[in-house]
Amino acid sequence: MDASALLSRLACPLIPVVVIDRLDDAVPLAEALLQGGISALEITLRTPVACEAISAMKSALPDAVIGAGTVSSGEAYGAAVQAGADFVVSPGATDQLFKTAAAHAVPFLPGAVTGSEVLRAMEFGYAALKFFPAEAAGGPQALQALSGPFPDINFMPTGGVTPHNVAAYLQLNNVCAVGGSWLTPRDLLIDQQWEAVFQLAADSVTQVTQMSRGEWQ
Ligand code: 3PG
Repeated sequence: MDASALLSRLACPLIPVVVIDRLDDAVPLAEALLQGGISALEITLRTPVACEAISAMKSALPDAVIGAGTVSSGEAYGAAVQAGADFVVSPGATDQLFKTAAAHAVPFLPGAVTGSEVLRAMEFGYAALKFFPAEAAGGPQALQALSGPFPDINFMPTGGVTPHNVAAYLQLNNVCAVGGSWLTPRDLLIDQQWEAVFQLAADSVTQVTQMSRGEWQ
């Protein structure tokens, strides 16, 4: 399955971008998010326990869609696959990443912002791309502009997406999902406030559901 197909089958288009410091937090955190209605998580490879956290989540919650983020090298890509990641996300793309991705069945979402970066990803056969850093790179206006020359490309914007601007992204036809760290605030994770994580996820999912019903304010 490629990344476009994987993202389009998600019931919820909100993807928490997670920085996990303690391995013991992995499963309760994933459980809270999934119970709140989240369909997929991106675990950033920014901490020493990130790959172990992915493995622990996949082992405890085999049906959960758990991706690896901040994958910046072929070596990291291999480690993410080894850990059991269902998809791999990178803030950009390099020859090494494209080459490694081609050697694995796990879907890859390369990062692209400019026309040249989008064209390069298309040359490698990609139709679903991460748009990072979304707000700094022009936000919904930039994505709308990209839909002209690239009508068949879907984006997952991350970087500066918040409850206040998420609607503007999800209303775009070329946005298939949005990612962000607002769903897993650091203070809640430090204090292991899983009920609060659940509630935040549930409220955000409700917000998005209302939006798709045209009730968004
Ligand atoms: C990231 O890779 O850090 C993501 O894009 C999340 O960005 P955010 O913290 O602005 O949501």
